[in-house]
Formats: sequence, C-alpha cells, structure tokens
Amino acid sequence: PFQVYAELRSNTPVRYDEHRKCWDVFRYEDVQYVLKNPKLFSSARDRANTSMLTTDPPKHKQLRDLVNQAFTPRAIEALAPRIQEIADELITPHLQQGQMNLVDDLATPLPVIVIAELLGVPAEDRQKFKDWSDALVKGARDDSDEAFQELMEEKKRNQQELAVYFRAIMEERRQQPQDDLISLLLAAEIEGQKLSEEELVGFCILLLAAGNETTTNLITNAVRILAEQPELQQRLREHPEHIASAVEETLRYYPPIVAIGRLARETVELSGQTIQEGEQVISWVGSANRDGQVFEHAEQFIEDRKPNRHMGFGFGIHFCLGAPLARLEARVVLNTILQQMQGIKLVSETKLQPIQSAFVFGVKEYPIQFE
Ligand code: HEM
Repeated sequence: PFQVYAELRSNTPVRYDEHRKCWDVFRYEDVQYVLKNPKLFSSARDRANTSMLTTDPPKHKQLRDLVNQAFTPRAIEALAPRIQEIADELITPHLQQGQMNLVDDLATPLPVIVIAELLGVPAEDRQKFKDWSDALVKGARDDSDEAFQELMEEKKRNQQELAVYFRAIMEERRQQPQDDLISLLLAAEIEGQKLSEEELVGFCILLLAAGNETTTNLITNAVRILAEQPELQQRLREHPEHIASAVEETLRYYPPIVAIGRLARETVELSGQTIQEGEQVISWVGSANRDGQVFEHAEQFIEDRKPNRHMGFGFGIHFCLGAPLARLEARVVLNTILQQMQGIKLVSETKLQPIQSAFVFGVKEYPIQFE
C-alpha cells in the first residue's frame, strides 16, 4: 500500500471517504496532531469493552498508571533469558531441515507463550489459551454479511469464555498470590484506587488482542525485510549493535499496524478540511512513517536510522504499553535467526497472502529456507 499512500499524501492529505464514512489522514504532521490531541479526537469509539485503549482522560490515566508498574522497561528486560529459551525451543527443531514456516512455527507461538507465562496461565491450559487468543483476532471467512454476523457471534462467545477463565485464575490468585502479572495487578493500588474485577479481566483480554498478532507481524515483517534485502543479513551479522535500530526501522517501514481510529469530539480544521464533531478519523501511521518531510530517504530501509520518530507504536497518551516487550521479542528473534541461519530467503514461488484487514500490514504465511 505504500505507493498509494505516497500519492494520497501529496494529492489528498486529508480526505473524506464517502463509502467508509470516515476521514483519512496521511501526512506525518496531521497524524501526530490527531494522536496528541485526545480532547479533540477521542478513543472512545467502541463502548462494548472498557479497556484503556478505548478510554479517554482522566479514566485512561488511572487505568494506565495502575498497569504501568508491570510494563516498565526494567521489568520487561528481566524476561530476556526466558524469551531466548522459548525462541531457541521453537527454532532449533527446524535448523536441520533448512526450512521453516516462520509465521506458524515461530512468530505466532512465541508472543502467545510469553504472554501466557507473564500472566501466569498454567502450562496445561496453554492450548486452550492459544485457541482463544487466535479467535480474538480472527477475520471473517468471506465478506458476506452472514460471515460477518457469524464472526461477531463467535468473538462474543470467545470473549465470554476468556472472561470466565480469567475470573477463575483471579480467584485462585486472590487466595494465593503467585509471582505473576495477575497477582501483581490484583494488588496494584494508586492513591487508594484499585482495578475493578471487570477492568482487570478487560485488561487481560486487551493484552492478548493488542499484543499477540501485532508481535507476530512485527517478527514476520522483520524477517521478510531480511529475505528481501540479502545484503542486510550480513551487515547485521557484522553489526549486531544495529539490531535494535533495525527493529525500529521495521516498525517504520513495515509497521504491523498501519492505521489508528479516533472520533472527532469537536469540529476541527485539519490541512484545510473541516471535520465535524462525531465523525470518524483514521490516522494512517503507515503513511506518516514514509513522509519525506520527516524522514530522509523515506522509501529506503536504513537499519541504523537516527533519529527514527516512527509512529509504529502510535503516539501520545495511548503509545503502545507493550512496546518494550514487543521490541525485546523481535530483537531476540532477529539475533537468533541471524546467528543460526545463513542465506535466509522466501521459499521460491510462494505467493504472499496479505492479512485481510486494512489496519494491519502482514502476511498469513512466510515460509523461509536457509543454510
Ligand atoms: C496500544 C501497536 C505490541 C499492548 C498500541 C497502539 C499501537 C500499538 C499503534 C496505539 C493505539 C491507539 O493509539 O489507539 C503495537 C505494535 C505491537 C504491539 C505494532 C507489536 C509489534 C503490544 C504488546 C502488548 C501491547 C506485546 C502487550 C503485551 C498494548 C496496549 C495498548 C497498546 C495495552 C493500549 C495503550 C493505551 O491505550 O494507553 N499498540 N503494539 N501491544 N498496545 Fe501495542
């Protein structure tokens, strides 16, 4: 889609889409303006679930501060050895064959296992947990109305099952706290305020919905760039200190989330267009990330780009809470893959199938071969 974004940035930087009934915003400066003004552009689109992602200030800050303690860079960095172990367990069985299905064998299970362990989901529930997690982000089987209805029903059922499951774990942890995120969040308190049971359950579900598929796509997109640019593989092997910035550049160049929705709360002017109160506004970060006004050689992947003010994790008060975790997982995987595999490429004749969501940039499968 990146070629299309470039045209839209120069021809119709802010435009109303009659069909989808929403505004689209394509330039960096405008996207940033939308995301940094929650008073004008609200996140409260979806009233069905009350998570921090769909809450505005002041409630948002209260929810976020409570869970923040668990997501500090330091707390996340402590997970590195375990993430390395999981990555090794998933990668090693494929080294002999010189081939692996990146999405199914590594990029999908890794974040699910990490989040399950972080939350304290017992090992015997892992499969059930993975099925629920997959169902949260599943797309419809086709684009008929029936398929859509069916999917919505299934998702609702799935969320209810997850909620029942998390409530049961919470009950156990209340009786007997363990060294896990759920126990920590049960005890979390700021100025006498605690998370309600509903908020805690909502947060656990949000972690799965916001963290798993996005990280899967970050890992896949990063390896895809390695396969598309073979010289990059050797450069990064020689300069492993650039792996962290290569992950940032992946978030700019192939961001797992390309668009972020908001709701206009007042009538506002943006790049000469008038957005009315109550209208939907889509911020195309996938486009902003390629804006030549902000990024030199914006269409080029530069692994040690500095500064790199991409908005792959969003911007402002809703900036991705899980960013330190996603970064760490991607770094561990890239490093391991570069050390264990030479000459990484896409298995020839593979036809890439994009994920069927306008908001997501990723592929369903990415089989690689290597030496
Ligand atoms: C928010 C992207 C991984 C948890 C966001 C937002 C973006 C984003 C763009 C902002 C949404 C908005 O402004 O409306 C990504 C990407 C990821 C990733 C690209 C992986 C590469 C994760 C992980 C977790 C997570 C691993 C948790 C384990 C969250 C949460 C929010 C959020 C809780 C809401 C924060 C708030 O509303 O204050 N993410 N995310 N994300 N992300 Fe991530």
